[in-house]
Amino acid sequence: MTQQYRITLLPGDGIGPEIMAVTVEVLNAIAAKFALKFDFTEALIGGAAIDATETPLPDETLAQCKASDAVLLAAIGGYKWDNLPRHQRPETGLLGLRAGLNLFANLRPATILPQLVDASTLKREVVEGVDIMVVRELTGGVYFGQPKGIFATETGEKRGVNSMAYSEGEIDRIARVGFETAKKRQGRLCSVDKANVLDVSQLWRDRVTEMAQQYPDVELSHLYVDNAAMQLVRAPKQFDTIVTGNLFGDILSDAAAMLTGSIGMLPSASLGDPGQPGVFEPVHGSAPDIAGEDKANPLAQVLSAAMMLRYGLDQPEAASHIEQAVLGVLDQGYRTGDIMSEGMKQVGCSEMGAVLLKTMDNG
Ligand code: IPM
Ligand code: MG
Repeated sequence: MTQQYRITLLPGDGIGPEIMAVTVEVLNAIAAKFALKFDFTEALIGGAAIDATETPLPDETLAQCKASDAVLLAAIGGYKWDNLPRHQRPETGLLGLRAGLNLFANLRPATILPQLVDASTLKREVVEGVDIMVVRELTGGVYFGQPKGIFATETGEKRGVNSMAYSEGEIDRIARVGFETAKKRQGRLCSVDKANVLDVSQLWRDRVTEMAQQYPDVELSHLYVDNAAMQLVRAPKQFDTIVTGNLFGDILSDAAAMLTGSIGMLPSASLGDPGQPGVFEPVHGSAPDIAGEDKANPLAQVLSAAMMLRYGLDQPEAASHIEQAVLGVLDQGYRTGDIMSEGMKQVGCSEMGAVLLKTMDNG
């Protein structure tokens, strides 16, 4: 029987539409191979939505996403919308989507592919074999805590406020994702906080420590975030799975991504409660400087579709097939500009899509 899925596509801004077009072709090819059927519906988000509707996350988009089995997002933002008031910024649309779908768990893998070791700015011996999963809390912490805003004080001086807050329940549910993820990987979980200074982090550490009793096979460690940042660039291979709050995860996942030297290769998954639609998107942004030039690397978006199959739709074989094809095109020497090195064949976005399809056909 053909398994049918409703997928909302959010191509967004900049290079988004180009890398999404390649990914849809890849998904259609996968559907044919694995007896799946994808019903794709496009919706607006980010700058594209601001231009059309004056809001970065129209109600119809959120409703459409809620009614689907999974959401594939490309990228949002661009110079054009950078100076709008906050409620009209593309980023506000993304945060609204995360909150609206209750996507509290963000999985960001940083894996060094053997074919791309030399793309890293760090020494080969430091990064070769790095395989880290950052589990970032995504709907709480200082991104969403109240009170927040810019307030006038009695003297007339303005004061900017954000609040870093986590309840026990919020900590427990992300800690559980951390432990479960580590259990499926190498069984090592590092929880990152700032418990030497922040009360919210002390509660975080206490809850994570308590949950460890339920996971005797997972080796738990704790690091302060400043030390974690240092260790990530000093000796990244010590890490397997990292679990951390929203802001620390934002920063550390970019650092971890750059270990691989190629942010254009990294996918991510944002998940809510089981059975609810997740959002799958590349870690990189909308790259407005190369938008429309057919230069973008579509592989992070394609790998995000693989994460969608694995974590969102429970189709691990179809996911592996895509991942193998990506390794295949790299083995054949195809590179977009961002990961180009001597002796390789430079291709644009659409040609990368074409060789990917050919490789999948033969695989
Ligand atoms: C990310 C981005 C977002 C974040 C921005 C665009 C709101 O940096 O997904 O990491 O800070 O979460
Ligand atoms: Mg970020």
